[in-house]
Amino acid sequence: MIIMKQEYLELIKKAKDVLQCNTVTVSVNGKSCQRIIPSRDFYVHQWLWDTAGIAMGQVYIDKEAAFNELLSLTTGQWNNGLIPHIIYNPGETRYYPPADLWQTGRFTRDGVKTSGITDPPLIAIAAAYICERVADEQKKRDFITALLPSLIAYHDHLKRYRDPEDCGLLTIVHPWESGTDDSPRFDSILNRIDVNSIPGDIKASVDLNRKDAMHDNAEERPTRVDYYRYIYLIELFKDLDWDYTKILHETPFAVKSISYNSIWERANVALAALLQAYGNQEQAHRYQQWAEQTQKALKDTWSEEHEQFCDIDVTQGRYERITALTNAIFMPLYAGAVQDHQLDLLLERLSNDHEFFTGYPVPSTAISSRFFDKDRYWRGPTWPITNYFIINGLKRYKTRSQEADQLANYFIQKTIEMIKENGFWEYFDPLDEETESDTKGMGFSSFSWTAAILIQLIYFVSD
Ligand code: GLC
Repeated sequence: MIIMKQEYLELIKKAKDVLQCNTVTVSVNGKSCQRIIPSRDFYVHQWLWDTAGIAMGQVYIDKEAAFNELLSLTTGQWNNGLIPHIIYNPGETRYYPPADLWQTGRFTRDGVKTSGITDPPLIAIAAAYICERVADEQKKRDFITALLPSLIAYHDHLKRYRDPEDCGLLTIVHPWESGTDDSPRFDSILNRIDVNSIPGDIKASVDLNRKDAMHDNAEERPTRVDYYRYIYLIELFKDLDWDYTKILHETPFAVKSISYNSIWERANVALAALLQAYGNQEQAHRYQQWAEQTQKALKDTWSEEHEQFCDIDVTQGRYERITALTNAIFMPLYAGAVQDHQLDLLLERLSNDHEFFTGYPVPSTAISSRFFDKDRYWRGPTWPITNYFIINGLKRYKTRSQEADQLANYFIQKTIEMIKENGFWEYFDPLDEETESDTKGMGFSSFSWTAAILIQLIYFVSD
């Protein structure tokens, strides 16, 4: 039995309240189902990787609800296997871009409205995580049996359309697919899209309808020009009929992202393990091989010159390393793709107070970077979700390096402290310096992910 400190019990109670408050009941294909939205204030639909993260926290509170949360993602799956990054809740209008902008209803069963791009593929990882924490064999088997066909179709879709060259690294075609929307690692690519060439009606629509920067927080959100480019890409893909063979050829944004692919590696290991336990052994072997191929390809993204892993810009035949110093460079730890001398260099960066060792680590962009902005979205603030991956990545190396283990433990404590002292915000000021503001929390409050990750971390240290 787990004995937990009183302080942690109280925090878990608060986290539970956040999840409860963000639970909505929706009707999908005539059936009523419950799902947890990221936040009541703005993100009022279902996001793929948020849902996976939420389910991993929820399993400690209500196992059945965690199963349903993940399964409810399959309601938005396209006939070709894609699981989109947003599944729109019917009747909700408080989000931009709205459901109808994508025009994708014809791809889903019963016309469920979704976005047309995807998210970091965290579902298989969450499914395996949940299964490890549920004792009832029959319940697990029922859950996995229901989920597996969708998972397989999703992974096969990604491999087929995003890695047609079979190199082991998937290509993302929109910054939102990385989950780290306005990260400076995408600047050089997005800046090639000439704003003057973006049709006026797209700009007018953004100016009129965008809703995230209306809460006195414009300096924290992606810029207006960022948004013009985001929506321009969507319009372009829509014009290509959401045909991903064409999209990959024509998109002005194509990246082999190290964060996306590190999650892809782990997702295939997880899918292989699920198939090993509940499905077909031969199929399990296939995903295990994909994971190995990705791990190897991730190793090749290391640049000796820059002493970091690099995203690769593969737009229209290019192959250019991106060297912006963001916390994505630590993601290959999560995929186990790091060699000894690289590990030392990554640990040095993580513990360097001119780069990533800030008051509330780990900032999304190094403070030494010319792109660092402590307030703006993915250009500086600390996010619980990326801390979660970095912590898990470091733990993978704990037998190889005591320092990796110590840093992971320190980051766990600091992440818990950051949320405890400031509340369940979307992201946080990484510097933790004295200012007039009474909270270091930023973005939207009562955020589901933040609550779910806090629960996971507390159980991790209490186990
Ligand atoms: C923002 C984040 C993305 C997240 C979504 C919902 O778009 O950048 O990672 O999934 O919000 O929380």
